[in-house]
Amino acid sequence: MEKREKFSSRLGFILISAGCAVGLGNVWRFPYITGKYGGAAFVLIYLIFLVILGLPIMIMEFSVGRASQKSAARSFHVLEPKGTKWHIESYFAMAGNYLLMMFYTTVGGWMIAYVFKNISGEFTGLSPEEVGGVFNGMLAQPVYMTVWMVITVLLSFFICSLGLQNGVERITKIMMGFLFVILIILCIRSVTLDGAIEGLKFYLVPDFGKIAEYGIFEVVFAAMGQSFFTLSLGIGAMAIFGSYLSKERTLTGESISICCLDTLVAIMAGLVIFPACFAFGVDPGEGPGLVFVTLPNIFNQMAGGRIFGTLFFVFMSFAALSSIIAVFENIISFSRDLFGWERKKAVLVNLIAIILLSMPCVLGFNVFSSFAPLGAGTTIQDLEDFIVSNNLLPLGSLVYLLFCTSRYGWGWKNFIKEADTGKGVKFPKWARFYVSYILPFIVLFIFVMGYVQKFSR
Ligand code: TRP
Repeated sequence: MEKREKFSSRLGFILISAGCAVGLGNVWRFPYITGKYGGAAFVLIYLIFLVILGLPIMIMEFSVGRASQKSAARSFHVLEPKGTKWHIESYFAMAGNYLLMMFYTTVGGWMIAYVFKNISGEFTGLSPEEVGGVFNGMLAQPVYMTVWMVITVLLSFFICSLGLQNGVERITKIMMGFLFVILIILCIRSVTLDGAIEGLKFYLVPDFGKIAEYGIFEVVFAAMGQSFFTLSLGIGAMAIFGSYLSKERTLTGESISICCLDTLVAIMAGLVIFPACFAFGVDPGEGPGLVFVTLPNIFNQMAGGRIFGTLFFVFMSFAALSSIIAVFENIISFSRDLFGWERKKAVLVNLIAIILLSMPCVLGFNVFSSFAPLGAGTTIQDLEDFIVSNNLLPLGSLVYLLFCTSRYGWGWKNFIKEADTGKGVKFPKWARFYVSYILPFIVLFIFVMGYVQKFSR
């Protein structure tokens, strides 16, 4: 058996994990949900959930990864008490990673396509309706979307094929660096626009009336779901990086840094989008089209909009690619752990598999658009997203949670020993009651509410 690869530096680990966490969830989903639920009050609830729900589960995933030295494909087998069945979760975790990529690569492709649409000035001089038409026109073209999806997949697997340190770690570090620089430039541009102040108020001053309008449950549920998704929890996507990590630092400390970076990017993405919306009189509650329709319209009206538009979509592409690379790394390590394959072989086989598996999502917008699995207007993408976000993430998180706290699982003592190994912040002992007896019910509640909300309209 070859020796397990390790990160070359602590910064590498933090930036890769942050790169996995920082993705479409931060730059696309977070702004549009925030816009929909009325801004600051929603943000406040979301922040609370990151701390009371996301952070402890992230620490648990990292602990399972570091202690087992395996990906989610084998980690439960290694750590579970003899004769127990916790490892059933490994199949769901693997399925979750593949399913996530089945729709994520398509959206990643849209982002890269939009970089080129901006560079080439395709939007210049178009009316708002025509800009919307560009997006819908893209959805109607299966070949065009397939090409960009394949480019996204090839690029990401190529980086993974270079190895953990030379590929994933090196490239993600560079991308995350640029991502922060571009984000700061865009933030400065946006908050200094005339009329930006109204957007800042909407985004930063809570208006609890909005929450009453939607009903507190719906808003709380949306905030909970977002906190799982944005931190990449529940399907072992983070656990893999624990398995590459040395024992020098405690996992609580590292998880806090990663959560903070993820949140910083989400909050700043909002600082780019909301002031711009208000400055140009555009509704931020647009929904998923916010990034592809509303924003190109804003850039159209803005001086130097072509440059800022290009920068914006480069930023979006980096966020998407860093998450895709991270999940591919996880997928590659599944086949290495399961079949003992070399990296190159694992890359090749999964490359083909992911391209084929991504096709239903691409075709769901055009060839199969009459198939509406979750009700009128929904697509195969919505179905895949629903299976992952509303099922595998909360239930998987619940399994990690119980595995680490129950004496029938890996157990509290083992978990705490692993989490607290190294220098840095220790897992607070008083939190044991909370994570053992309260948090599981919160997670279960999210799961049930997800269904109630989805099917009660
Ligand atoms: N967190 C990423 C985002 O915000 C998406 C992501 C990557 C993810 N890996 C995951 C979500 C695993 C859930 C589970 O876009």
